[in-house]
Amino acid sequence: MTEPMIAFHEGARLFHLSAPGLSYVIGIDEDNRLVELYWGPPLSETNDGLDLSYLMRLYPEGASFEMKPIRRPYLVPSIGYGWYGSPAVQAVNDQGDNMTDLRYVSHEILHHKPALEGLPSTHVSDTGASSEVPTLVLHLEDALTHLQAALFFSLIGTGEHFALARHMELTNEGSAPLTLTHMASAQSAVPAGQRPDQALQVLHLKGAWARERQIVRTAAGEAAYRIESQKGASSHYENPFLALVRKSTTEDTGDVYAMNFVYSGSFEALCETPDAAFTFLQMGLNSAVHQWRLEPSGTFVTPEVVQVYSSHGLNGMSHIYHDLYRHCLGNSLFQHRARPLLLNSWEGLGITINEQDTLQLARQAKELGVDMLVLDDGWFANRNDDKRSLGDWYPSPEKFPHGLKWLAEKVREEGLLFGLWMEPEMISPDSDLYRSHPDWCLHVDGRERSLARTQLILDLSRREVQDYLIQTIENVLNSAPISYLKWDYNRNMTEPFSSALPPERKMESQHRYMLGLYRVLGEVTAAFPQVLFESCSGGGGRFDAGMLSYMCQTWTSDDTDAYERLKIQYGTSLVYPASCMVAHISDVPNSQTGRRTPLKTRAYAAMGGCFGLEIDPGHASDSEKEEIRKYVEEARSLQKIAQEGELDRLISPFGDSNMAAWQFSLENEVLVYAFRRLSLPNTMPVRLCLTNLPEQTQYEDEEGHRYSGGQLMHAGLVLRFDGQDFDAVRIHLKKV
Ligand code: DGJ
Repeated sequence: MTEPMIAFHEGARLFHLSAPGLSYVIGIDEDNRLVELYWGPPLSETNDGLDLSYLMRLYPEGASFEMKPIRRPYLVPSIGYGWYGSPAVQAVNDQGDNMTDLRYVSHEILHHKPALEGLPSTHVSDTGASSEVPTLVLHLEDALTHLQAALFFSLIGTGEHFALARHMELTNEGSAPLTLTHMASAQSAVPAGQRPDQALQVLHLKGAWARERQIVRTAAGEAAYRIESQKGASSHYENPFLALVRKSTTEDTGDVYAMNFVYSGSFEALCETPDAAFTFLQMGLNSAVHQWRLEPSGTFVTPEVVQVYSSHGLNGMSHIYHDLYRHCLGNSLFQHRARPLLLNSWEGLGITINEQDTLQLARQAKELGVDMLVLDDGWFANRNDDKRSLGDWYPSPEKFPHGLKWLAEKVREEGLLFGLWMEPEMISPDSDLYRSHPDWCLHVDGRERSLARTQLILDLSRREVQDYLIQTIENVLNSAPISYLKWDYNRNMTEPFSSALPPERKMESQHRYMLGLYRVLGEVTAAFPQVLFESCSGGGGRFDAGMLSYMCQTWTSDDTDAYERLKIQYGTSLVYPASCMVAHISDVPNSQTGRRTPLKTRAYAAMGGCFGLEIDPGHASDSEKEEIRKYVEEARSLQKIAQEGELDRLISPFGDSNMAAWQFSLENEVLVYAFRRLSLPNTMPVRLCLTNLPEQTQYEDEEGHRYSGGQLMHAGLVLRFDGQDFDAVRIHLKKV
């Protein structure tokens, strides 16, 4: 296994960053601008090292209209000197123009990865990770304004899989303030392929509430492609993930070039082809809503982009992200622990839940075999509907007269852990908090405060609001034996400005909000390491690596319909591991789709993530309860394979597909889930080929059939579905 390393070849004026499966090369051109020369499979060096300077000449020769060699894949392009694509960095100076010409000054090669001030980032957090993280820091300067940029590139991974983690730090070494209007964290170029099957396609995860992270794959290069969120959350609508693949790329083969943002707020990601030779990916803060005033000596730190190259298709890319996010993101003690199987009150009992209902639910939950009862929305102040009381975090005297401590202890007496829901960032106009602090929400003086779900958002850019929130959450968690907290966030930002900021800093409000949120999350999760935190945002509206840095699991979607979940979970799994994807069995007909799916299918879909229940057991017959109990036990016994195993997607549920299938492999076991949408008459049993197994290894299924790894991959398993729609099959193979 080669070690990750960074070499500077002085003669060729280039940096070669190499790790298993990856080379990334940056050159310094004759104007001292930085050019990305290569991103792809590992390059062997010659005895003379590596010289890619000939790639600098990839611009039209003798084309007189092109006055300068501007058609290079610059690392931090800016407009004004002949680059006509989107800028990565742009600052308005005191002369009123926004030319920003950053040129190479010096570099450092570090053996560790510095943390990002105030922001979450990947780091060496547990034993799975390589302890040395080679990091290249490139120092650049604009000679006129003295804006300095430090570009960071870290080769971080787990020994087998490596990613490139990137960010930028901008410091104003001049004497006049600058206004940053573009501050992308990363820009990279992918060379065009010459054969039709090498044509580039852009791939991203588009969605909506209850329909998150649907895979979109379409031709790149015809026009600029931009995905974004300006909602103040990474959002249901676009996940902060963008990739380029070849037309021929499959789940298991071919090139994938991907970027994922470690950030939970408004972002943008671009794919542009300003020249036939290259297509760019760029990712960073959304320039439509973020600006930053940089006073002399001030520094601005961009969030991190995790950049991944895979030559083994989309599964290969996912293996790298999954490994990294399981081992190098966050510090939760629960990351590698068996997560408690829980029953959540929301879909079964809703907001009107009271003390008696909760205790009855606890008894029923115990009978079903779960470990924890979670009391969702409805437990606090006057919360009899979803129109009030956010901010007043004390138990409703009418509905919960004995308080949280009494209740949690009663639940524990039933033999269950107790978990709780909060929506800490919100404030209802009908709340004591709002009556005391009407200025504590995001708003614009003189304009209407737009309500969504009858609520406003606290202004977390304000230190006093952050302090209040930290104290309030800590008070709740200290008030009772609470083992889990579901942290919800149920609206997007409008009037996204802080009234506490002066006019010249108003455009910083959204990013200051995120910095405030990360401070609150950092303090609260560090103060309660024994509490399992789950992130949620009206389902999966903030399913991103930023939130996962503090909370190791996220509620994947408010859509719990098993068939819809196949698509949502399949799309989510492109980037995020099953260990962070929360998936529950809910009642039928499903509350979002009205669809009835078999209990088995709901159970197998939920076993593809962090398993739980979201049902009212009062509605279940004895035989249904018996079946649920069986699936809870099954989920418990198979939990480790899904949480820690390597996931390979086998059949996509998107498009006209009548099936979906995926496989988890861990040491001596392989677990396969396959789903069929519609039952068809007179069809042959389905043959399903597995992937990524050692050819010679012998496996045995639960019925005693033996197969070699090669047989499973090339001849396949035979699946026998029942004669019903939305059926599912699970196959568990063990090494003999
Ligand atoms: C949205 C979440 O996604 C649901 O699971 C539930 O917690 C509700 N909010 C409660 O208001």
